[in-house]
Amino acid sequence: MVFKRSKSSDSITFVLGSEERSVRLKSGKTILDLALENDIPLDHSCTAGTCGSCRVFVLDAPSDFEPRGEVEQETAESRGFSDLERLACLNEACPGLKVKIPGEGEF
Ligand code: FES
Repeated sequence: MVFKRSKSSDSITFVLGSEERSVRLKSGKTILDLALENDIPLDHSCTAGTCGSCRVFVLDAPSDFEPRGEVEQETAESRGFSDLERLACLNEACPGLKVKIPGEGEF
């Protein structure tokens, strides 16, 4: 899959392997919502913050990117996530956010 490169202050960037793709933000959409709407492969299951399958690595976080909430913190602790690992289904995307989608064997 070949991703198109573009940069915008109203977008977020997904990194998948050596490819990057920036997508336009939509108000109220989570990182997972934007991935799925833009045909970016991102594992997911519960969409409620408990299964951990939508984990992404945050490479760049703007200052307004929210810290973990209670549910995400519980899942992160139970699964041993690093501080950079966040759940795409629980976090609203914000301008300038850059996340890496883990490949096979990165867990
Ligand atoms: S889809 Fe299960 S934690 Fe996000």
